[in-house]
Order: sequence, then C-alpha cells, then structure tokens
Amino acid sequence: MSEYKIITIERHIIEGERAHPGASGSFSGLLRDLALAFKVIWREVSKAGLVDILGSMGHENIHGDEVKKLDVFAHEAIYKSMDHGGHLCVMASEENEDVLNIPEHYPTGKYVLIYDPLDGSSNIDANVTIGTIFSLYRRVTPSGPGSLDDCLQPGYKQVAAGYVMYGSSTMIVYSTGNGVHGFTLDPSIGEFLLSHENIRIPKRGKIYSVNEGNYHRWTEGMKNYIHYLQEEDNASNRPYSARYVGSLVGDIQRTLLYGGIFMYPADSKNPNGKLRLMYEGNPMAFLMEQAGGRATDGFKRILDIQPRKLHERTPLFIGSEEDVVIAEQFLQGKRDH
Ligand code: AHG
Ligand code: MN
Ligand code: MN
Repeated sequence: MSEYKIITIERHIIEGERAHPGASGSFSGLLRDLALAFKVIWREVSKAGLVDILGSMGHENIHGDEVKKLDVFAHEAIYKSMDHGGHLCVMASEENEDVLNIPEHYPTGKYVLIYDPLDGSSNIDANVTIGTIFSLYRRVTPSGPGSLDDCLQPGYKQVAAGYVMYGSSTMIVYSTGNGVHGFTLDPSIGEFLLSHENIRIPKRGKIYSVNEGNYHRWTEGMKNYIHYLQEEDNASNRPYSARYVGSLVGDIQRTLLYGGIFMYPADSKNPNGKLRLMYEGNPMAFLMEQAGGRATDGFKRILDIQPRKLHERTPLFIGSEEDVVIAEQFLQGKRDH
C-alpha cells in the first residue's frame, strides 16, 4: 500500500483533537459547520458573474463602506450555519453593529465566533480574490446566552483563527495554535484537502504591500520606511517589490507563502488605520505568529490589545519577523534610513 493519504479538514481536526486528550469533540463539529458555510459562500462567489447578485444594494454598512449583495449573503450564510449547532454562545460579524445572539430555541455552547463574512468586497465585481476571515474564542461568561464581554477578548485568547480564500482555487488556511495549515477545495468531491501542511513564513522577504495612494497622509516615519524599501542595496536585497491586492486575505496569503510585509498604517485621515482589530487584525496576527511571523500596530503586539468595542480599528504591520521589526524602528523614530 502506498504512503499516500487524503487528509480532509475534518480528519485533520479530529486527529488533532485525539492528540489533545480532554478536547471535547465540540470543536470538530463547529469547524465542520463552518466549512459547510464556506462551501455555500464559494458556490455563490463562483457564479457571481452569472446571476444578478452583483452590484450594490444601495446602502452602506456601519463602517460607511458600500455593502454588496454578496456581503449580506455571506453574513447570513455563516450565521445560519452556526446558530443551531450548540457550539456557540454568541457571534459578531463585521456586517452587523451589535453582537449576534443565538436564537432562544437553540442550545448555546462554550465558543464565540467573530467573522468578516466577505473580505475584499471592492474586488468582487472585478473577479479578483476575496475571502472570509474567522476567529474563535472560549466564552468568559458562565452559561446561557453570550454577551459583548465574550466577544471583547484580546487576540492572544483565540483558540482558533483562519480565513478562506476564494481565488483561482478556494482554500481554508487555519490554526488551532498548533501551526498553520492550508486545505484546498476539491470541487469535484466538495471536500477541503490538506495541501499546505505547517506553513512557515520566511524570516525576511522582499515584497512590501501597502496602499501607497495614502502616502501624503502618512507620518514621516512611515514615509522614511517606504523610501528605505525602495533604495538600492544588494546586501539587504533592496529595492523590495510592491504587491497590493486590496483584499486582506489575498495579501496575507501571499505574505505567508513568500514573506515580506503587509501594512495598513495610521494616517492623518484615519488615526487608527482602516482595518478592524477583531475581524481582521487578530485572526491574521494569530496565523502570522503561528507561522513564525510577527504582527504589531507599529508599537505593540496586535494580540495583546484589549478591544474596547466590537468594531475598533487598528494600524497593522504584519509579515516576516525581520521586516516588521525594521518597520517598527522607522515608525518609532529610532532610525530614518
Ligand atoms: P472589507 O471588504 O471586509 O471591508 O475589507 C476591505 C479591507 C481589506 O480587505 C483590505 O486590505 C483593505 O480593506 C483595503 O483597503 P484600501 O482600499 O483602503 O487599500
Ligand atoms: Mn475585511
Ligand atoms: Mn467585509
């Protein structure tokens, strides 16, 4: 018999749970429900160009962004897949101002789900990579319906986090605190199969990723860092190349695999940057650290930030450890070239 093994995401989770006696099995059920929601979203995303699902519904979400129909669809698909399984006590979605309660007639469980249902929504109509980002915590309230307190936990308390990328193929990349693993959807059998085991990010890369259109709003430290990356220096592999998808999932996926740095800094218009701590910063920071990388707001570790509100924003510097450390030195004014 050959050594060849097909490892579905479900098998991977179950085998991981077996390796940790005391795990309840609830987790594998939870991730199975999530994987189903991702397949439902993938089905809609992949036919978005065919049906009348494109275009705006003509109103904005609570962040002031234009809401596309697919955002709403993905938001509901995840809620409806996760509301009845008995694993969760509360959810929060980037598309909803307040926490999402579990309907009273369903049982509650010990986990909390925070999600960005559709990330990169400005890319939908161009058929460019978009994704879903998720993050799981253990509840802190004792029992019954969960609350905002269960959601407002610092990122280091995540028990799992990951994203789905609806790209040239559809992938789940996730971690339960035991490395980062990638699973690619085989559409012919409808299963996510292990394709990227134990992803490790290079210690230093040669790609930087930032929306340079905001240049004139940046601090001097930030401008100096970008000048540094653009300078010629063989010894440190400069100049770096610039890549920017505009979908965080796409930019993080490339950064995890190739190394380098992704940034969404604070600027004069957005003093806390654009990205959301709970829906985007924390799950990506968890994955990045698990892969051997680093994630800070330029001054402190993302995972140590105590969130004060659900939709809080944070500047984000994330990627190869050495690159993020150098960025911090510039931002903190410790060097200017
Ligand atoms: P979302 O579609 O969930 O609102 O997130 C969009 C985010 C993120 O995916 C991306 O990194 C960033 O917005 C891009 O912002 P800019 O268009 O300002 O560069
Ligand atoms: Mn997003
Ligand atoms: Mn979104």
